[in-house]
Amino acid sequence: MIGIIGAMDAEVEEILARMEADREETASGIVYHVGTIGGKECVAAKCGVGKVAAAVCAQTMILRYAPEAIVNVGVAGGIGPDVRIGNIVVASGFVQHDMDTSAVGDEKGLISGLNLVVIPVSEPLSALTLETAERLCGKQKVHSGIIATGDQFISDRGRLERIRDEFDACACEMEGGSIAQVCYMNGTAFTALRAISDNADEAAAVSYAEFFRESAHTAAELIAELVKKI
Ligand code: ADE
Repeated sequence: MIGIIGAMDAEVEEILARMEADREETASGIVYHVGTIGGKECVAAKCGVGKVAAAVCAQTMILRYAPEAIVNVGVAGGIGPDVRIGNIVVASGFVQHDMDTSAVGDEKGLISGLNLVVIPVSEPLSALTLETAERLCGKQKVHSGIIATGDQFISDRGRLERIRDEFDACACEMEGGSIAQVCYMNGTAFTALRAISDNADEAAAVSYAEFFRESAHTAAELIAELVKKI
């Protein structure tokens, strides 16, 4: 079984539209939709916004369904001039940009316990995710890079430049780095694909409102193709 997690209604609705639904089950206050995509057994859930909601959703999914892999799908803010609205970012790793114990001597972003700043994604799953996105969207629209996760909607150039400079990130969002940590701790394979809805700058809220649906649609289409190939 493959687990699919999105944060928002539209992100998950786009997945469910491509899924033969079988049943719904509620656990930890989250609805898990069980069914198939292209004959492949899946469980899809809307985790809600932010790191805690995402962690609860991923951990409950792992304990209840023991998926062979979890895929995180959704939209993100693009960081850097090349990462444009409508482009796709496939995570090469995740950081939690709001994790900061540097006051006690740690590297910024260090997740103590894991002793990592960059949480890895899984291979060959991520290579397959990148290959699928490049095949369907064209190489020039697809980026592979670090995605920065934190409990903030980034809409400020200063903040986004700090995230880019500290972590070499090419996109920001609010859940992936948390799901990555849960998967890493449980030994569950993990990949993430995000479609860019805004540039995480002062215009981000307006762009996000305009492009969220279209970007969620693109991301779901790619994930449905990916799942058939896992
Ligand atoms: N998801 C989409 N755009 C975002 C942004 N600018 N900051 C955080 N999460 C996002």
